[in-house]
Amino acid sequence: MTNAATTPGLFETARLGSLDLPNRLVMAPMTRNRAGADGVPRPLMATYYAQRASAGLIIAEAATPNAVGQTYPNIPAVHAPEHVAGWRDVTDAVHAAGGRMFLQLQHGGRVGHPDNSGLTPVAPSPVPLPGTVHTADGPKPAVVPREMSAEEIRSTVADFAAAARNAIEAGFEGVEVHSANGYLLHQFLSGHTNRRTDGYGGSVAGRIRFTVEVVRAVAAAIGPERVGLRISPGGTANAMREDDIEDLYPALVDALADSGPAYLHVVHADPGQPLFRRIRASWPGTLIANPALPWPGPLPADGGRSEGERLLAAGADLVALGRAFLANPDLVERLRAGAPLNPVRDAYLMYTGEETGYTDYPVLADAALAAS
Ligand SMILES: Cc1cc2nc3c(=O)[nH]c(=O)nc-3n(C[C@H](O)[C@H](O)[C@H](O)COP(=O)(O)O)c2cc1C
Repeated sequence: MTNAATTPGLFETARLGSLDLPNRLVMAPMTRNRAGADGVPRPLMATYYAQRASAGLIIAEAATPNAVGQTYPNIPAVHAPEHVAGWRDVTDAVHAAGGRMFLQLQHGGRVGHPDNSGLTPVAPSPVPLPGTVHTADGPKPAVVPREMSAEEIRSTVADFAAAARNAIEAGFEGVEVHSANGYLLHQFLSGHTNRRTDGYGGSVAGRIRFTVEVVRAVAAAIGPERVGLRISPGGTANAMREDDIEDLYPALVDALADSGPAYLHVVHADPGQPLFRRIRASWPGTLIANPALPWPGPLPADGGRSEGERLLAAGADLVALGRAFLANPDLVERLRAGAPLNPVRDAYLMYTGEETGYTDYPVLADAALAAS
């Protein structure tokens, strides 16, 4: 716990790995389904991210490291040369606008559908997602995933490392490994979705092994200072259940602390939670905290700023906000000026493919022009 005199403000600079950040506001990764059907990022995505380049750091939306890991339609991928070329246009636009950008790597595991990937989803165990998965024809019941073999686990670790190299080739400053929100890595962490009896299941040490191997492989591929890890202890997205977060997450953090990833990114971060404080105390690197705000909404009028400041006071280094950045391209300027925020429109307008609800949110300068 730091005190008010030593707590940095949201608008103070920070260091992340070898990057200098102009402020401590991070744009959280948000899937927006604007890529082509082949996973290639479209020019509209370059516009969207460049509009938000004043964030201290952008973490770009979940991108798929291999074909079977695809979750939903129009998700960007990062496992083929055409994906790299598409992302290059996005990172060029963000850099030209003065920004910095990591890419989130996400394998969906059981959160996927043959209609989306053309393949049967794979998972630690054949435990289906209870519910539906969005497809191009709307939501469809999830299928029973195929249990990954030991060989598939090894090749998937290698796919993450290759995807990370692709991301660097595409111009990203680094990657975030997604071990949160009920996707493949998180499925390995929970005893409800991981029923394996080999070395990748059972005990806490077994269930954290896949995430640890992915992070280490990615760090070895591109350098630990370019790698972050996202976790959501106790998070229930995608029907997740976890019984032993007080044991599992400290073990995961301890296992990774000495391999030196640049950051740990905690979803639903609560400064009063003992587990949050324990993670902060044992994590030597940068801690990004994504505050627990009302979900599905509405957002507080300040977009999460005061919750973010509470997290900084509790030892977080950076604060990630999602929906406030989605609706406010100039969020940093608005928060600095104490200006009102645009509300989020229409359930995020995912799956539309177009500008509406994506690149058409106004900035303060538009309002000033309209008033003059
Ligand atoms: C439209 C949308 C898409 C999202 N996609 C992702 C994603 O791709 N990866 C991820 O880790 N979290 C994703 N999230 C969760 C956000 O990163 C963030 O944790 C969540 O919105 C809570 O932060 P907020 O209250 O500031 O919005 C998504 C959230 C939204 C609203």
